[in-house]
Amino acid sequence: MIQFQALAQTYGTPLYVYDFDAMKEQFESLKEAFRGRKSILAYAVKANSNLSVIKHFAQLGSGADCVSIGEVRRALMAGVPKYRILFSGVGKRDDEIREAIQSDILYINLESEGELSRVEAIAKELGVKARISIRVNPNIDPQTHPYISTGLHDNKFGVEIDAAKRMYIHAKNSDNLDAVGIHFHIGSQLTQLEPIYEAAVIVADLLRSLQAIDIELKFFDIGGGLGVRYNDETTITPYDYAQAILGALKGIDVTIICEPGRFLTANAGYFLTKVLYEKQNGAKRFVVVDGAMNDLIRPSLYNAYHRIEAVGKTSEATPVDVVGPVCESGDFLAKNYPLPAMEHNDLLVVHSAGAYGFGMGSNYNTRGRSAEIAVENGEARIIRARETFEDLIALEREYL
Ligand code: LLP
Repeated sequence: MIQFQALAQTYGTPLYVYDFDAMKEQFESLKEAFRGRKSILAYAVKANSNLSVIKHFAQLGSGADCVSIGEVRRALMAGVPKYRILFSGVGKRDDEIREAIQSDILYINLESEGELSRVEAIAKELGVKARISIRVNPNIDPQTHPYISTGLHDNKFGVEIDAAKRMYIHAKNSDNLDAVGIHFHIGSQLTQLEPIYEAAVIVADLLRSLQAIDIELKFFDIGGGLGVRYNDETTITPYDYAQAILGALKGIDVTIICEPGRFLTANAGYFLTKVLYEKQNGAKRFVVVDGAMNDLIRPSLYNAYHRIEAVGKTSEATPVDVVGPVCESGDFLAKNYPLPAMEHNDLLVVHSAGAYGFGMGSNYNTRGRSAEIAVENGEARIIRARETFEDLIALEREYL
């Protein structure tokens, strides 16, 4: 049991707390599901990019799926071997492409024909062959929130099957491109297996048709997206997930790459916030807390549900909006959430905050971002200090 009250006392609030043992369990359960198959789990750094979190996964044998050169640098700094680092994303700048090639990472995931040309040109300038993979958009509805759906032609991600084929043929004839993989990622917080299976079948078929024209790829990159339980969702088990992928791949000898983010970190993270006041506006009850949308934006942005625990409170719960100090009506952590009567300094623990929590934070309203704490084997340690006012203004000029 994590001692939330003691942590809040020692480190102050708002505060992010990560259970490193729980992260390890999640990693191992997914690794186990692919046992006996050549596979790489490449942690999706965007879910929680704290260097200590990345290092924790690196020490378990993880690779890293990165979406900016900044994330690639983080992965390298945290000790992820370069041969397990991928660079994905729909809009890479020339300088990012150049640095990725020079860093000699496993491959760059391409998302357009324009990008293929840029990577080829930059590899030519550098006098090397760039390892690439192509993100295919299989046009499958992943049945998740529209903001985190990525596998439909309506979404900006990936290329159509025909374009992918053209790109592989182009790469085969190029002196500066080495196509090593094929990639798809249809969305995040997936709770239905069927769409993943259908997408895998479509992409595996493409892989077969490429083999037929002598294009051999080593890596089958299935993206991330495994959903987790925030409330009462039924989720996909790692075993069923792996079996579906293996089923789609039958007969093809490739290394499977999986890019889990949320699955590894979401339920291992907690956001601690203290009550400032209770107030009533007419019939409406509010609890105002010291954490806000700049710390955890998921409720405001996606109307996402996060379980909230009122530590040590047992009185009868009634519906309340849990709101932060930011000057926006959209600044809430929960709406109509059943909570007991709260008093100044009572502690709330917001659950499932380990993925897309701190990382999506901002300094809006000149609020410094929270400290981050790791708990491992019963010991707590600080892995990112609380931001100070001086940190926030450090880059500003001409104010004197
Ligand atoms: N691979 C690619 C290419 C991705 O775009 C993503 C997530 C992942 C892997 C990791 O997906 P995961 O396993 O975490 O589902 N901010 C949103 C989620 C955005 C996900 C973006 N891409 C949220 O808070 O729900």
